[in-house]
Amino acid sequence: MKHLIDFQDIESTEAKKLIDFVIKDKQNPKSENLSKTVVMKFDEPSTRTKVSFSTASNNLGLYQIDLTKENTSSIKGESLKDEITTLIDLDVDLLVLRTSSDDKSVYDNFNEIGIISAGFGKVSHPTQALVDLSTIISNDEFDKKKPFVFCGDLKHSRVFHSAMELFPKLGIEIGICAPEEFLPKNFNNYTLFETIDEAIHKSSGIEILRVQKERIDNSENFNLNNFIENFQLNKEKIDKASNKLMILHPMPMNIGIEIDKYAAENFRMLHRKQLSFGIAARKVALKYSLGLI
Ligand code: CP
Repeated sequence: MKHLIDFQDIESTEAKKLIDFVIKDKQNPKSENLSKTVVMKFDEPSTRTKVSFSTASNNLGLYQIDLTKENTSSIKGESLKDEITTLIDLDVDLLVLRTSSDDKSVYDNFNEIGIISAGFGKVSHPTQALVDLSTIISNDEFDKKKPFVFCGDLKHSRVFHSAMELFPKLGIEIGICAPEEFLPKNFNNYTLFETIDEAIHKSSGIEILRVQKERIDNSENFNLNNFIENFQLNKEKIDKASNKLMILHPMPMNIGIEIDKYAAENFRMLHRKQLSFGIAARKVALKYSLGLI
């Protein structure tokens, strides 16, 4: 069993292989009967990730058990070590986990179960990165010579943190566009676009990320009005973009904050295209963790 919590130890050739599998499975979905057991533990709400992991599990013939923090003994104070050891002793093969925790290292020592991040705090959402990159690469208009720019609250975004690990492995340069308070650590490693207009005109595509209010610490200051005024993708900005510009959003959207209603409904938006890769990406993640890819 292997973990898929981040892409740090995944070689470029393996990353390319995962994306190829996602694109092929989306074009020609295959059902299997793997007869393994997967626990889905979602300690935070989810619509897309949960439904696509569940459908992917059904398509692969996995036995699914759904847990949350509220209905497991972690609510009674059970340690993470005891919880995961219990799953191993009860013959669970895979744990798909969504958690508010940023701590990835605590899972390093559990080798008898494959652990897949379905979203860890601010740090990891690897299957969303597989979805997003498959969407971009399979688009005929994609120009690999230009950067792909992430716009919005990058600092608190697990979507951005997984993308920044995965995209360069396929030779894609990442650009960033955010107010100072939402810039990620080590932002000097990326091409900085001062405005959304600049990002729109100099990139192969952009991904709009929502303000992650639930992950912003009380001590952090951010100016919502400044964000809306200067970094919202709105009618004025989107109408100036090339018809071929790819615009992604991992969803859920906060209309009126990172994007306005007009832009959200614009033909350039690929959020439904992204969703069309959701099940294939989760099938690939589940098979990767079972050691079948
Ligand atoms: N993009 C994403 O992770 O959506 P959900 O929170 O609905 O799973």
